[in-house]
Amino acid sequence: MSTYETITVERRGKVAVLTINRPDKLNALNNKVHAEGVAALDELRGDNDVRVLVITGAGEKAFIAGADISEFEGQTPVTQRDAFHERSLFNSIDSFPKPVIAMVNGFCLGGGNELAMACDLRMCSENARFAQPEINLGIMCGGGGTQRLTNLVGESKAMEMVLTGDMIDAATAEKIGLVNHVYPAAELEAKTMELADKIAEKAPIALQLSKEAVKFASRSNLDEGLRREVDLFAICFSTEDKQEGVSAFLEKRKPVFKGR
Ligand code: COA
Repeated sequence: MSTYETITVERRGKVAVLTINRPDKLNALNNKVHAEGVAALDELRGDNDVRVLVITGAGEKAFIAGADISEFEGQTPVTQRDAFHERSLFNSIDSFPKPVIAMVNGFCLGGGNELAMACDLRMCSENARFAQPEINLGIMCGGGGTQRLTNLVGESKAMEMVLTGDMIDAATAEKIGLVNHVYPAAELEAKTMELADKIAEKAPIALQLSKEAVKFASRSNLDEGLRREVDLFAICFSTEDKQEGVSAFLEKRKPVFKGR
């Protein structure tokens, strides 16, 4: 695995942990973080030993406090459109084939919340705070904030967050469905790794297809979604892992999935 300046990537068994490592800037997403994050995900994508990815922020204060505002000076519509399109970290996470868990350990603002929402699951600490504060800078969300937030929490709550820029606390984020679970800060890492390890033991191909199917639900209508689901379900029946899962159940033992 390459080494990077603004992120670290660590292997813990079948789980890779990617940490945005700019704690003095509350892990704000600058161009380098995007570029290095995309490169790291490209590396992890093809690594069969990595089954689940956890993304977090360094330090105790922030997951990610948004886009790096200091880089906004001098940006033009053209540079911003390029930066937020295909090669953004948001899109790389969205299209990453393995499960991705955001471990949100503090401020989760703007692009930070957009990044967390591009992940498949969100675990947060009790001190986490969430907002889409772009409106306070005279701009708006550009990394999926208006779309993914609406999918996750519904139009009414999304509209309130996007139009006011106000922060919500962890309990509220859980109540409205923005995060999956909230834990005391001291327990967040252990609980997140427990979940990641559990998912990492499942059949990799079935995980990938399941993820694709769930994501498709908000991008299609019900008929298309049901058709896609049954096609993906059928593919599972061509895998060795399906044979292993069924045999293990019938033989009353734990399955060992190999991603084949
Ligand atoms: N971009 C660039 N730098 C940022 C940043 C961002 N989004 N968020 C925080 N920082 C930097 C601060 O400038 C400061 O740097 P400095 O020590 O060199 O001055 C450092 O991180 C610490 O932040 P600070 O503001 O001093 O911490 P705080 O505890 O007083 O406030 C926040 C924390 C999160 C409330 C505040 O930093 C903030 O509002 N950040 C911007 C959030 C935002 O609008 N994000 C969306 C961008 S579109």
